Amino acid sequence: MNFKITLTAAACALALAACGNHETPTDDTGTSTAAPAETTTEATTPAPATTVAGAMESTMPASNASTGTAMPAATAGSDKPAAVVENCSTQIDGTDAMQFDVGSIAIPASCSKFTITLKHTGTMPVAAMGHNVVIAEAGDMAGVLADGIGAGVANDYVKPGDARIVAHTKLVGGGESTTVSFDPAKLKDGGPYEFFCSFPGHATVMKGSISVG
Ligand code: CO
Repeated sequence: MNFKITLTAAACALALAACGNHETPTDDTGTSTAAPAETTTEATTPAPATTVAGAMESTMPASNASTGTAMPAATAGSDKPAAVVENCSTQIDGTDAMQFDVGSIAIPASCSKFTITLKHTGTMPVAAMGHNVVIAEAGDMAGVLADGIGAGVANDYVKPGDARIVAHTKLVGGGESTTVSFDPAKLKDGGPYEFFCSFPGHATVMKGSISVG
């Protein structure tokens, strides 16, 4: 009897001691390690993730907005005003946003010589945002442009001696101006004629009609 009680008591005491000893450290380490682990992962990982997402979100609408505003103006080349012509000459402005400010040029029939001044109103260098004015029949544009790319920036993106080109300015960068004069009689046959920038990719938006009369 006595032996049995002592055994049970001892077993109980052992079990309790065992349980107690194990419970306390497990609880302590469990809570102490879990708490910092949760706070560190929550504090470090999601915080930068939201910052990056926020930064991307803030830049995305900005770029979308800029292309959104550029596209209607770009495709609306015909919606742009006609060039102001005075004394058989006109000025076209080219911008850092890859735009001409006019959509058409009407040369008075009385002009024996016509002068176009191209002013690059931007600040970007010629290698990044160069502009020129090339005049050719609309049907020749693709060929003139392809050969112009082949000629390279050293030739102002114009194939030297290209017979399809009525006239062209040199290629200019931000803050620069250039002028070209030509005989409007060259535009009386054939056509329709277009003026455009032959810098690679620019003619899709930088173009307009040019005619006499
Ligand atoms: Co251009």
